[in-house]
Amino acid sequence: MATETMPYQNQTDWLRSQVHDALTAFFAEHSAPVGDPEVTAAFTVLRDFVLDGGKRLRPVLCFWGWRGAGGHSLGGREGASCRDRPIVSVAAALELCHAGLLIHDDIMDGSDLRRGRPTVHRALGQSAAILLGVLALAWSDEVFAGCGADPVRLRAARRRFDRMRTEVIAGQFLDVLARAGDAPERALTAIRYKTAKYTVERPLQIGGELAGAGPELLAAYSRLGLPLGEAFQLRDDLLGVFGDPAETGKSALDDLREGRHTLLIAHAWQHASPAAARHLRLWYGSAGLTERAAETIRQILLDTGAVAHVETMIADRVRQALEVLRTAPITPEARQALTRLADGIANRTR
Ligand code: IPE
Ligand code: IPE
Ligand code: MG
Ligand code: MG
Repeated sequence: MATETMPYQNQTDWLRSQVHDALTAFFAEHSAPVGDPEVTAAFTVLRDFVLDGGKRLRPVLCFWGWRGAGGHSLGGREGASCRDRPIVSVAAALELCHAGLLIHDDIMDGSDLRRGRPTVHRALGQSAAILLGVLALAWSDEVFAGCGADPVRLRAARRRFDRMRTEVIAGQFLDVLARAGDAPERALTAIRYKTAKYTVERPLQIGGELAGAGPELLAAYSRLGLPLGEAFQLRDDLLGVFGDPAETGKSALDDLREGRHTLLIAHAWQHASPAAARHLRLWYGSAGLTERAAETIRQILLDTGAVAHVETMIADRVRQALEVLRTAPITPEARQALTRLADGIANRTR
């Protein structure tokens, strides 16, 4: 069955399974080059981390960025055809890059749980997690470079990928430098760089470049990708405190214990009663935070209007993205698929 005749949801599923197969094959070809059992076990931890879990959002957006620019696919039961291979490989490369970033992010954020399992540094120690994060990033480069795309298109996509990696590191830097009392613009810049660009804007553009997208479409991907990516991170901030760990695979105490300087908490500080401010001073960012004290913080976030404020920010951004999407020069099918994805990105529970 030709992929372009499938409904868009099936195409998304098809891409996910192709990426899974490509990553599985890659890991099979990249076993540990030394026989040491601990090194071998560490390579297996990385493989399991990459293969078992994750929403595959960046690969999916890259795929629709490609389809939106007229990229077409043969697909079918036999797996990816020659024409599909570059987009599948590049999508897989984005997932490997994401894995490396997450492993390092969890070290920096002191997180114990990711995708429902102990984080890599909790399982293997910090040095091993640093090494495996670097390995995932290096492998992502290897897969991207070897995707087999037409050289002119590959060079263009590659420039976006290079830019993306610089941006996300700068964003992570802003995130670790964040302090209580930072201006909201600074927090928004951090969100844009640490998440929006590498999660939505750049994947769409990278897919677009692989299909030879023109400047107008690439600019539209940016105008819709940034607000949507910001909405994604704002939702992540809400889920980090109010989410169900069984769904998110992450702890609902991490952000509170770490004392993250999110827009959510900034708004709460600004509007807290004296008693609420006392509670926040005592417990927010305390390693000994109890579930009971966390529940009071959640109530403060609701009472001060912080949750409503962030929900409004999300809704505004989704509206903005959908407005761009409505008139973007993309294929009708990609418009439909991205419209549906936008809702999932902003209103997800995991
Ligand atoms: C988590 O990304 C990191 C952020 C940028 C918020 P995802 O929520 O896409 O993580 P997985 O891949 O599905 O686990
Ligand atoms: C993650 O941001 C961003 C990157 C991995 C680059 P967060 O630290 O806010 O995301 P989670 O909540 O740990 O997934
Ligand atoms: Mg984190
Ligand atoms: Mg972080």
